[in-house]
Amino acid sequence: MERTLILVKPDAMQRGLAFDVLGRLEGRGLRIAGLRLLQVDEAMAKRHYGEHEGKPFFEGLVSYITSGPIIAAVFEGTNAVTAARSTIGSTNPTESAPGTIRGDLGLEIGRNLVHGSDSVESANREIGIFFDGQPVLDWQRSTDGWVFE
Ligand code: RTP
Ligand code: MG
Repeated sequence: MERTLILVKPDAMQRGLAFDVLGRLEGRGLRIAGLRLLQVDEAMAKRHYGEHEGKPFFEGLVSYITSGPIIAAVFEGTNAVTAARSTIGSTNPTESAPGTIRGDLGLEIGRNLVHGSDSVESANREIGIFFDGQPVLDWQRSTDGWVFE
């Protein structure tokens, strides 16, 4: 089953939207396989967002993601990466469609509430960063046959 790494970013945590964000993904049918509350330090932030190092927004991005606790979650299901990204919406909330997390709850690109892996390769890499030595479970729901054909 395909897996993706979701982060409830510090703004969503501060605004009390953590379980709204997670609930939209869970409600879509994606199954939670891992869940952690943690504080990201600078080294972890730079590892996670390494592809953006050198870009003008990089320092702001690192201070944003390290500014308070986050929730890291592994969700799994059919096309989990693409499904989560479409529920999350475009990077800039102003351009995100209504009905998406960012389109309903956000306004600015630097406060866009949630992260979702952009490919299966990224998901594997990011799960390794956020769940290093931490449990990610293999389990089934009794309702899975009503979500996965
Ligand atoms: P994410 O990785 O957080 O899920 O977001 P994303 O794939 O939609 O966007 P990405 O291009 O990976 O950018 C990572 C995060 O950097 C911030 N950003 N700011 N000011 C800017 O032009 C700019 N571009 C990107 C956003 O917070 C974005 O989520
Ligand atoms: Mg990204």
